[in-house]
Amino acid sequence: MTTEIVGDGPSGIARAAGLLRAGRPVAFPTETVYGLGADATDDRAVAALFAAKDRPRFNPLIVHFADSADAEGEAAFDARAHRLAETLWPGPLTLVLPRRPGSRLSLLVSAGLDTVAVRVPAHPTARRLLRAADVPIAAPSANRSGTVSPTTAQHVLESLGGRIPLILAGGRCAVGLESTVLDLSGETPLLLRPGAVTREEIAALIGPVSLPVDLPEGDGGTGARKSPGQLRSHYAPSVPVRLNARLAEPGEALLTFGPDLRKGELVLNLSEKGDLTEAAANLFAMLRALDRPGVRAIAVVPIPEHGLGVAINDRLRRAAAPRQ
Ligand code: TXA
Ligand code: MG
Repeated sequence: MTTEIVGDGPSGIARAAGLLRAGRPVAFPTETVYGLGADATDDRAVAALFAAKDRPRFNPLIVHFADSADAEGEAAFDARAHRLAETLWPGPLTLVLPRRPGSRLSLLVSAGLDTVAVRVPAHPTARRLLRAADVPIAAPSANRSGTVSPTTAQHVLESLGGRIPLILAGGRCAVGLESTVLDLSGETPLLLRPGAVTREEIAALIGPVSLPVDLPEGDGGTGARKSPGQLRSHYAPSVPVRLNARLAEPGEALLTFGPDLRKGELVLNLSEKGDLTEAAANLFAMLRALDRPGVRAIAVVPIPEHGLGVAINDRLRRAAAPRQ
């Protein structure tokens, strides 16, 4: 199969929407990372998407909607979900909620759970595509399973070229990290994946948010509340990643942050200004750029553990974790 990249003007949108409606997978930009989309109401389309990604079947997928009214047709929103959706959507926040009885969504997107992860993306191209396709779109990040998420159309091509028919190009992703995933299916809100929307922002709207490790046995059950997609090794470049490095050892590339005089072919700076938002947007692209033959490992300097730094460090720890 040849993979075509098209611009996000009206004809590109129409082609992407047509393919989605015909049950084919299409890559498209969101404000977080590029997603690989499929019609979330079509079991065969969702299965084709798992196949294109080489993804373990037990990972449930995020379903994207054009607006929150559409999302409410498939998932049961409580007062907390309404509050968050009103304030933070469209945007990089995913809510895990009970599936509505009679939901049209494929059971495959929930991977057998009675919950579904829903989000309304902010990227204008994603929103135009959702409107044109007029179906909810299930979309994991548009890369092979276990590798670094794509933040440009070129990254998608490198990872999935030959495996999908179309990539809708819409520039570089502004956020650069996957959405925050918040589980509201039980009494205690649980932060399953840190992201651009911080735990503090969520807590200011709906009260305290727990982490999966804080959860007492028996709250809301078992499988669904442990994020099934959160494999420990994930977002991994092909060379090892070494964290909290001060110096690069011989043969290592260096990923640094903040004012740093070190320069060189194998040195990249996530943000010379020390701006965590800029660092998040650069993270995946720079990990890819340093992931080269002949590099022994990527050494990464310590990143501050506050604000977006929490999400950046989460991704870096996964990139550095022992490979499965
Ligand atoms: O920013 C993003 O969220 C991107 C863009 C494309 O929207 N998508 C993305 O999807 O990162 P993916 O499939 O790579 O990550 C989905 C995450 C996983 O951690 C998965 O475990 C969690 O959402 N998830 C999905 N459905 C769930 C459910 N029903 N219960 C618990 N966790 C769920
Ligand atoms: Mg992913």
